[in-house]
Formats: sequence, structure tokens, C-alpha cells
Amino acid sequence: MVSFSYNLPNAGTQPKHILSSSDISYGRLCQILDLAQAMKRQRLENPQPIAQVENRMLAMLFEKQSLRTRITFETAMHELGGHAIYLTKSDIDMGQRESVYDVAKNLSQWSAMIVARLNSHATLCQLAEHASVPVINALTDMEHPCQALADVLTITEKFGDDALKVAWIGDGNNVANSFAVMASKLGHNVVICTPPGYEAASYVYSEPNVEHCYDPKAAAEDADVVYTDVWVSMGQESEEQERIERFAKYQVNDAVMALTKPNAIFLHCLPAKRGFEVVDSVIDGPKSLVFEQANNRLYAQKALMHLLLENRIA
Ligand code: CP
Ligand code: NVA
Repeated sequence: MVSFSYNLPNAGTQPKHILSSSDISYGRLCQILDLAQAMKRQRLENPQPIAQVENRMLAMLFEKQSLRTRITFETAMHELGGHAIYLTKSDIDMGQRESVYDVAKNLSQWSAMIVARLNSHATLCQLAEHASVPVINALTDMEHPCQALADVLTITEKFGDDALKVAWIGDGNNVANSFAVMASKLGHNVVICTPPGYEAASYVYSEPNVEHCYDPKAAAEDADVVYTDVWVSMGQESEEQERIERFAKYQVNDAVMALTKPNAIFLHCLPAKRGFEVVDSVIDGPKSLVFEQANNRLYAQKALMHLLLENRIA
């Protein structure tokens, strides 16, 4: 068994919930990134389970579809020495079959942590309020902080600690909110570029070095990182036609990437709608790190869960 240990005080008796990027301080973010990179090296060199979380269970509540988040959380928990139980909306129908309060109280009896992908961020907050184990946001309508951890891990692996210009081009959605807040914590200059009416949440713009613009060319100019996501998120299917029209000028294509720095990278949380927010030649091109970004979900979440299970995140 491999063991990672830290010379850090325990965080106290209250469960620490990770509901948004704002719940991770700069110091803890650095700690997660360091541990994630150590775990990545360890998995390549010595693929053994990690001690200390044997036989502990991760409850995974998913009201929406997932490929990356489900697989990386389940794999991370398994590789930490525990196991995960995956429950869909049709399994528990939280709020209908049983109240959020009762689900939180029940899951807290058996599980070491709860990972939840819920339609509503308010429901996630309610779940966390009543859970006596840590609750981790696996995506809501408002935030996707675990994605943001993998995003900044990918950026840090490529550029080290340099302060960068990072451009979000597209919808000011859940992924944009979490990414902008997380990137700002590391001192990057974040430009969020959306059509009018599709800006990120207002709290995002109160973070240091986060700006908005409506011109994708200005956003891409001399950028080190260009990041986009789908124009139609899960749950917004009825707005599809209108969104395709409103976002047409915000596609990340070769002309946009030509404005970036020579060493720039392209990121996308995936799944992608190729031909809409991004073209094949960009997502499959030499600047694209999208699959390494997806790979890094495993290490970022493994590090986060390990620290939470050891009660090291204050
Ligand atoms: N990026 C991401 O969260 O992917 P999934 O929806 O497949 O989990
Ligand atoms: N913004 C997208 C992200 C999917 C990972 C959605 O919410 O559907």
C-alpha cells in the first residue's frame, strides 16, 4: 500500500463541503494540485491502492448523465481503497420519493462522502446542510468545481506558476463560473467572453482579475489558454435553436486560435458539440489538451477526496 501523509492540523469536526470553487482556499488549492501531481506520478510508477480509506463508501447521486465525472470518481475511490455506489434519479427520486433531508440523513449513516450531480444548486446546498459527511458538487446548474480543479491542474502542468491570460469563450455557464473563480485564485487574468445576456454569474466578476468582454477576437488576442463548453447545457434543450443563433459568432475555430500566443492551449470540459462551439481542427489540433484535461479529473478528485477523508481541508 502507498501512503500519502501531511504535516497539517485536522480541520475540525464539521464536515467540509465542496459546493463551489469558492469553497477551496488558495492554500488548499495548492495542496490539492501538489497531491494530484504526486498521485499521478505514483499511479504511473506504482499502481497500488492508497492506504487509509479502506472499506469506506462514496455515495454518488446523479440526476444528470455523465461519462467523465462518474468514471473518475468511481475509479478514484476504488484506487484510494474504498468503493462507490452510483444512484440515478430513477433510483431515489430525491424530493419526490423521499425528502432531501431524509436522503442526507440516511446517506450520512453509511457513506464517508457524498458526490452529487443535481439539477439545482439550491438542492445541493440543502443536501449539504443536512449531511454529516462531506458533500462534493459533481455539477449543478451553477457550478462544476471538480472540473475546475482538473482544468487548473492541466494549466499548471503546462505552464507552471506563470500568471496567464485565460479566455473563456462561449456560454457563461456552470463550468465558466467554477473555472473563472478557480483560475483567479492562481493569479491568472480571466476574460469571460459571451453574447449579451449569457454572462457568467455576477459573483464571478467580483473575483480579482476577472473581466468580461463581448468580442471573441479581443478575448483570444494573446491568450495563453482558450476554453469553451457547449452552448446548450443539460436541462436547456428547449432553448437549443435560440442559443445556436445567439452563439454563432462565439465559435472557437482556427481564426480565433490564430490570435492566441504561439504556445497557447485549448481546453474543453467535454462532452463537445463539434461544429458548434468548437471545430474539429481545433479540438483535435496540436494546441488541444482536452483529453489530458479529462485524464486529470481522476487525479484532482482523488487528491480532493483523500484530503477530505483525512479531514485535512479547512
Ligand atoms: N466534463 C464532465 O463533467 O463530463 P461528464 O458530464 O461526462 O461527467
Ligand atoms: N455545461 C455543461 C457541462 C457538462 C459537463 C452542462 O451543464 O451540461
